[in-house]
Amino acid sequence: MRNGYKTLAFIGGGNMAGAIIGGLVQRGYPATLIHVSDPSDLARQRLADQFGVHVHDTNQDAATAAEVVVLAVKPQVLAEVCQTLMAELQGHGDRIYLSIAAGISLASLKIYLQGSPRIIRAMPNTPALVGMGMTGLYASPGVKESDKLFCQALLEAVGKVLWVADEAGINTVIAAAGSAPAYFFLLMEAMQQSTVAMGLSEEDARLLIAQTAAGAAQMALERDLPFATMREQVTSKGGTTAAALAVFQQHGFGSTVDAAMQAAIARAEEMAREF
Ligand SMILES: NC(=O)c1ccc[n+]([C@@H]2O[C@H](COP(=O)([O-])OP(=O)(O)OC[C@H]3O[C@@H](n4cnc5c(N)ncnc54)[C@H](OP(=O)(O)O)[C@@H]3O)[C@@H](O)[C@H]2O)c1
Repeated sequence: MRNGYKTLAFIGGGNMAGAIIGGLVQRGYPATLIHVSDPSDLARQRLADQFGVHVHDTNQDAATAAEVVVLAVKPQVLAEVCQTLMAELQGHGDRIYLSIAAGISLASLKIYLQGSPRIIRAMPNTPALVGMGMTGLYASPGVKESDKLFCQALLEAVGKVLWVADEAGINTVIAAAGSAPAYFFLLMEAMQQSTVAMGLSEEDARLLIAQTAAGAAQMALERDLPFATMREQVTSKGGTTAAALAVFQQHGFGSTVDAAMQAAIARAEEMAREF
């Protein structure tokens, strides 16, 4: 890790925390420097057994010694969790706070964390569970470069990261990456149904589609070409792919995708107002 190790506290030891912790430990981050708090005995036991991290049944115990606190609880409970924690720790203690909670603005986090100047927002997505995450990051202008680099390295343990220049960019990350695995699953699901209707088994259809999706994604990552060029390269004039794509276009594929992504952004904005 380019900035040396720091003592970490994960508040909430659920799916996303588990994915990040797993990625860190796999990359050699010392488990002895990782503390996690979670109300569930089972969750704590699993994390301790799997990764050898310290587990605690109170957030205060996890955070006391931490230099970086990762807020990994559900957005609905974050305000209460932070307010209790600030009271127990008697202030933010100049720790770095990395929030992965969807839809909680920096302005709200600042209030919950008693004006801490060291807050960074991250928006990971579920492929982080298999080390293929895509995380958007945002820090307000005053945050130190070294804090940003440290948090970036934490999220790079589970995939790629992208810094956005303003906070609204986090909602764009939600539309284009956070919610996007589900768009691909929807397409894969529809393709599977059609493939099964054509006579293949669900299992065979699943293999054809998942491997093709992974292959297409890998090509897009490896080749520095516009998506449109890659599409054109696999579409011969008058061929089968051209016939299929024409149907997508006739049914307004581009405008459907655009409307769906706008809906994700609108919901993210609404959630930010709710919390
Ligand atoms: N999963 C994603 O794709 C994704 C993507 C981007 C961002 N996020 C964000 O990541 C955060 C965590 O999501 P997740 O999917 O990992 O949820 P999760 O699996 O439900 O994890 C949250 C964990 O926090 C625990 N918890 C509840 N109350 C707590 C408290 N007072 N103190 C400490 N821990 C507490 C929960 O325990 P119980 O289950 O026993 O209540 C649970 O184990 C959310 O804010 C979410 O918005 C998730």
